[in-house]
Parts: sequence; structure tokens; C-alpha cells
Amino acid sequence: METIAKTTSVDKEIADCVVVGIFKPKRLSASAKKLDKLYRNSISNACQRGTAGGNLGQVTTLHNSGRSKHNCIIVVGCGEENKFSISKYQTALNAVANEIKRNKISNIINCLAELPVKDADILTKVQVAVTTIESSMYAYSETKPKAKTRIHFRKQKFITSNRKEISDMRDGIEIGKAIVSGINLAKELGNLPGNICTPTYLAEQALALKKGNRKLKVNVLDEAQMKKLNMGALLSVSNGSVEPAKLVTMEFNGGNENERPVVLVGKGITFDTGGISLKPGATMDEMKFDMCGAASVLGTIKACCELDLPLNVVGVIACAENMPGGRATKPGDVVTTMSGQTVEILNTDAEGRLVLCDALTYIDKFEPETVIDIATLTGACVVALGQIPSGVMSNDDDLAKSLIRAGEQTGDRTWQLPLWDEYQSQLDSNFADIANIGGRWGGTITAACFLSRFTKNYTWAHLDIAGVAWHQGKEKGATGRPVPLLTEYLLHQAYEF
Ligand code: BES
Ligand code: MN
Ligand code: ZN
Repeated sequence: METIAKTTSVDKEIADCVVVGIFKPKRLSASAKKLDKLYRNSISNACQRGTAGGNLGQVTTLHNSGRSKHNCIIVVGCGEENKFSISKYQTALNAVANEIKRNKISNIINCLAELPVKDADILTKVQVAVTTIESSMYAYSETKPKAKTRIHFRKQKFITSNRKEISDMRDGIEIGKAIVSGINLAKELGNLPGNICTPTYLAEQALALKKGNRKLKVNVLDEAQMKKLNMGALLSVSNGSVEPAKLVTMEFNGGNENERPVVLVGKGITFDTGGISLKPGATMDEMKFDMCGAASVLGTIKACCELDLPLNVVGVIACAENMPGGRATKPGDVVTTMSGQTVEILNTDAEGRLVLCDALTYIDKFEPETVIDIATLTGACVVALGQIPSGVMSNDDDLAKSLIRAGEQTGDRTWQLPLWDEYQSQLDSNFADIANIGGRWGGTITAACFLSRFTKNYTWAHLDIAGVAWHQGKEKGATGRPVPLLTEYLLHQAYEF
């Protein structure tokens, strides 16, 4: 995909299609006004007729006569001008992306970045336009080759009359493109079925990332090595499966040698049946997405490589398949974690925290500056927050704030839940140091409380992405979230803004 920034005016630049915005009730953007003049009031007429309008996401394609500079104009409603946030901007961009696909358009001039978006500079506006439009051109075809719905989209141009904006626009394009390739990797791994995307497969994908990148080191621990490290919790999850667990470490050394790294830890359950605490059958297929935390770590490491980020980042993915079987862990079993703490496994379906806790102990050896774990950890998080934000819990409010901000800047939002000590007693066990479930209430928080028992040595945040990692229903498929949030956070760390 070609993406460029150029100083020019929309009425001078040729393209298949121009994309312009209008605010409520019928306020044309600067470029929309120019086109309206060029094409004899076609936009204001469409507004009169009601085919075009300012409602957020309302989208129309106006076709021009054969010899025009632009074959068509996509007009998208942007809602109320003073409420136009990055998330609303993204809603408008998504409507445009669908219209581009529907009309099989191959190249556009995107004039939406000229709109005033709250708390967004030109770099951010271009970045979000690139990530939103270009990542929506992803199509899964690996196990459905006929579905290779040819994507016609090839080229996107951003234009401005202000020369000074060009370099920021180019930075926005570069960052946006790196995020898109991270998103697309995360989507592809998420969408692959559990019989292809196994722990071994994920380890191979990590090794493949290393190719051609001297700043990336990848290491894969097998079950025997994990056993030596006393990772009793992680190994208890793969007991019932014929697929061996893998603990994969990706060290991206973009910063100074002595700088402490940011460590990202992803839950990589390549299929979650629940184990002996078997899940009900309906929608169980969606548990192939239970490795989306790991996929987002791989995607973010890929983005770091492409951006050549001046920062040390370690990605760790804890991969296992959770199956029932003759050797599977049973409710009531007690295991010893790498930290030495014992865990009573009251529910084998609370397996994410079991693989994560040993990974969170293991990473102590990197002397992390900050640790962020990413996991499709609890159904309770979807109940609490729905499918709009992920949930963030942290032992450091500043870190939580930074993540919330990175989420807002990218439209990949997160919302903080409390991690108060008062919840901890829900994990009391008569037979071990910790129980792996905390009872009926506050399931997202007690899951984070469980993890907090293993993260005392460093600044840490936990992202519960259960509600945002994939879409359900007709549009079923991985979203690639939270690659945008994580990459943005790392950019803030690398460039200190
Ligand atoms: N992977 C699931 C969480 C999940 C469920 C994510 C549905 C998205 C949609 C996790 O391993 C799990 O099963 N969690 C249990 C925890 C419970 C046993 C304490 C849950 O949420 O029911
Ligand atoms: Mn589970
Ligand atoms: Zn799970």
C-alpha cells in the first residue's frame, strides 16, 4: 500500500476518489467546500436531498462525470464539531473504509485529517487515519482461499496547504504503517484456527520475526526447561494437552545497553476448552482467540522493529493449550509456582493467570523498568466494560494514566478498574498460599489480584482484553487490539512525550 503526504489543493490533485467530512447539521469542511464549488454544488445538493448529512458515520458516494479530476467523492458525517474526538474520528474513518471496499476504490485523497479533532495534532490525525483505513483492508484467507475478496485499495494521499505540516504528516504515515503491520500480524495469528496456531506455531512465528533484524533476539523454552525453572503453574495448564507448552522471549534491543527494558507479557492460550472445568459448547470456538494477548505482543514487537524504536523492549508469550484429558489438572490440585508460592487450582478454566504468573516471575531476570501483561483473562471484564475499552489495573497510577492516554491517542481505549488490597482476601485458600479464583464478584479485579502476587518487584500494569480482542457474530475475527495502544505507549517512552 502506498501512502503519501503532499502540499497541494484538493481541486488540483487527481485521484479515483476524494474523502471529505461534514459536521452537523450541514457544515462542509474546507476541502468539501472546494469540491462543492468545482462540481457545481453537488455536495450541498446532496445535503439538501438528505443523501449526505452530518450524522456521525453517515456516508455517501457522489459520482462525478467521466472527465473529472475525481471519479467520486465520499462524503462522511462527523457528528457535532465540538464533540469530534479521536474515537469519533475513527468511527467516521471506519465508515469510509467500508465504503471504499464496497465501491472497490483503488486510490483516494483523504481530506479527513484537516478536520479539527479534539486533543489530536496533525501527526496523530494522519497516524489514526492510516491505522484505521489500512488495517481495515486486512482479509483473512489462509484456510478460505476462495474468500480472497480482492482488495482493490492501493493508494492513500494526505494533502495540506501548509508546507510545515508535511514532515509531521510523514511521521504519522510511518508510525501508522508500522502499527498496521503489527495489527495485521496480531489479526492473522488470532484468526488462525487452534489446530494450526498451536504453542509451537506461535514460537515459530516469533523466530520468524527475527529474520533480518539484528536487534531482535528470540529464545524458546520447552517444557523440560520450564520444569527445571519450577514453573508448576504454567505446566499445569498444558498437562491435559498433547501440544507442548512454550515460553517465548523476544528481546528487542533498540536502546542503550544499560537501559532497563519495558517488558510485555502476553497470554497465549491457543485454545481454551476450560480443561476439566469444561466450558459450555456454545461459542467455544471463540476460545481460539485466547492467544490474542500473545498475538498483540508479537505484533507490537514487529512494530518496534519496523520503527527501529530507540528503546529496549522484551516481549514474552506464555503459550499453552488448555484441554481436559487423563493427565489434565483437576479442581483441587495444588501446584508450586516458580516464585515458590503454592496455588490451589479450584477451577481449571482460570488458566490464563496460571501461565502468566510463572512468566511474570521469569521476567524478573530482565530487571524491567515497567511490565505490562496483556490477556483475554476474564469474561467478567466483558460484563463490566462491554466491548469498547480494555480494562487496565496497575500497582502504579502513573503507569495506568500513561496507558489510558496512549489508548485515547490511538482510539484503542482502556478503562481503569481498582486494584485495592480489600479484594485480596477473596483469593484465600485452606490448602495453598493462593486460590486461583476469587468467587462470584469482581472477577476481573480478583484475577488481577492473583497476578499482583507475582509482580511485587516492579512497576506493573495488567490489560484485560477479553472484550476487545475479537469481534463476534457476522464480523467474527480478531481486531489486532491492543497493538495501537502498546505501540503508542512505547513511542511515548522512547521519545519522552
Ligand atoms: N479465556 C477466558 C476468559 C474469556 C471468556 C474471555 C469469555 C473472553 C470471553 C478465561 O480463561 C476464563 O475462562 N476465565 C474464567 C475465569 C473464571 C473461571 C474465574 C471466566 O471468565 O469465566
Ligand atoms: Mn479459561
Ligand atoms: Zn482463557
